[in-house]
Amino acid sequence: MSFLKNKRVLLTAGPTYEAIDPVRFIGNRSSGKMGYALAEALAEKGAEVILVSGPVSLNTKHQNIKLIEVESAAEMYAACHLHFGSCAIAILAAAVADYTVAKPSAIKIKKKSETMSLQLVKTKDILKSLGKIKAADQLLVGFALETNNELENAKKKLVSKNLDFIVLNSLQDQGAGFKHDTNKITIVEKSNKITKFELKSKAEVANDIVAFIEGFRD
Ligand code: CTP
Repeated sequence: MSFLKNKRVLLTAGPTYEAIDPVRFIGNRSSGKMGYALAEALAEKGAEVILVSGPVSLNTKHQNIKLIEVESAAEMYAACHLHFGSCAIAILAAAVADYTVAKPSAIKIKKKSETMSLQLVKTKDILKSLGKIKAADQLLVGFALETNNELENAKKKLVSKNLDFIVLNSLQDQGAGFKHDTNKITIVEKSNKITKFELKSKAEVANDIVAFIEGFRD
């Protein structure tokens, strides 16, 4: 029987949308495919998945997946903090906006001057905030999407966010990242152990991550 059977897992996926006005937002290119594939793989192992998802064009019907739909980074933060305490594992795969609009307009902004600027303010780092309150028996996993100095940047995130391990995707790798149905990952552990995986479908990558979690806890 899998270690994951009946374990509650908090999982974030997709992008966040930060409203500029009622019709416009700042978003990013995350499709949510990697997070949703992970949700399915975890659910198949009998885990009870709480999937906190930003806006995506995917759906899930698995009975072990409870979908909580959010839009902004602030909503994702609130949903994660509501559920983290009851979860044995948290995997944060969402591409959360690092900045949000300081003062979104309640009405549609009309075009006037030739240039305009928006003031942005930092969002709260959900993963880091969970790392601060994590109990010794909770497993916390982050993702890192990097374009340069990949391993070094991933290690820094692992330490500063108090993670057990981090899943690194490099945008330099062919077929990895947002637009693709495939991904190529490297897992970096707290102990500095590095495990590299081949380019695979996101469903297969999800199975690799799930197997890694099972091995990590055994
Ligand atoms: N993350 C989060 N909340 C944020 C920003 C990021 O929970 N406000 C999480 C992501 O879900 C991911 C990890 O932090 O698991 C790393 O995200 P990434 O964007 O690569 O790193 P940042 O810490 O935002 O650093 P930077 O954008 O400067 O590389």
